Amino acid sequence: MKVETTLWWDARGNCIRYIDQTLLPNEYKIGECRDIERWATAIRRLEVRGAPALGVAGGYGVALASVLADEESFSRFMDKVRRDGEYLRATRPTAINLGWGIDRVLGRMAVEASIPAARLAAIAEAEEIAREDTECCHAIGDFGASLLPDNCTVMTHCNAGALACSSWGTALGVIRSAVKRGKEVKVIACETRPLLQGARLTAWELDRDGIDVTVITDSMAAHVLRTRKIDAVIVGADRITRDAVFNKIGTYGHAISAKHHGIPFYVAAPRSTFDPVNGEKDVIIEERKRDEVTTLGQRIFVPPGAGVLNFGFDATPIDLVTAVVTECGVFRPPIDIKALLSRPAVK
Ligand code: MRU
Repeated sequence: MKVETTLWWDARGNCIRYIDQTLLPNEYKIGECRDIERWATAIRRLEVRGAPALGVAGGYGVALASVLADEESFSRFMDKVRRDGEYLRATRPTAINLGWGIDRVLGRMAVEASIPAARLAAIAEAEEIAREDTECCHAIGDFGASLLPDNCTVMTHCNAGALACSSWGTALGVIRSAVKRGKEVKVIACETRPLLQGARLTAWELDRDGIDVTVITDSMAAHVLRTRKIDAVIVGADRITRDAVFNKIGTYGHAISAKHHGIPFYVAAPRSTFDPVNGEKDVIIEERKRDEVTTLGQRIFVPPGAGVLNFGFDATPIDLVTAVVTECGVFRPPIDIKALLSRPAVK
């Protein structure tokens, strides 16, 4: 089975359903979520992950909160749903899409006049976010595919695929669209320590689609860029500010190596990933738990006395980026984010 949708609203069960990404590639399991605490845990544990998918997760989280809230007055009901939204927003600070999805559904609910109408509006808006995300990914794919040579090898990092979005993917969407056009694309997937989204998820997705994929350890990337014919590096993003692209830890190093070797470095992301307000210094880079770095399976391989740093993301200065591929086209830095966000939505 191909990955069609990463997460969705189950109208019969009044709950969220999603592919549990912590179990892949060994087990394909659909999780279900019926309460906010559990949804916050699913987001923190990366059962659902990837910036655009987190936007959808934020939207469905608010929809779930609206179904669960049993306050009698409309204002108390909205206060409760907003509190749950804030709780979900705090689970992961770097990807801007999570808060964007939460705010969009809260905004849609606030204009309704009754609790039943607000609940229906919340579910409809969250589903609309998911639908638009798929549409954006296909548009990104179409614009980005034109950047790739007919016969090429590209390197990617982490997972910016169908699993990181509603479907299709951003960076992997570009690769999928290029393959669909008949281009021959080979992919080098960096494993992405410590949680191995590249090895586990990117390789799984591409392999299932019959796209040629080779996994390397992260520390091999510079050597591969130097010694193999790599035509482009293409990654997704968790947040794009005027001065930097935030993406999975390790991205910055790939951007430096690509620049040094004269290889284009592309970022593929929908407009929901752009931050029109903050600069690099204002953004919190998520720091995760020690055991993700010290433990593999049951085995601990860092002595207890040693310190550990576990940054989830890094910031790549915008001048290392050749172009950002969005659903509105390809933009070369410097990018006027406010102008980009004020363009009409893709329909
Ligand atoms: O910690 P994760 O797995 O949520 O990090 C995901 C990434 O860094 C992706 O590259 C990014 O969200 C872009 S996904 C289209």
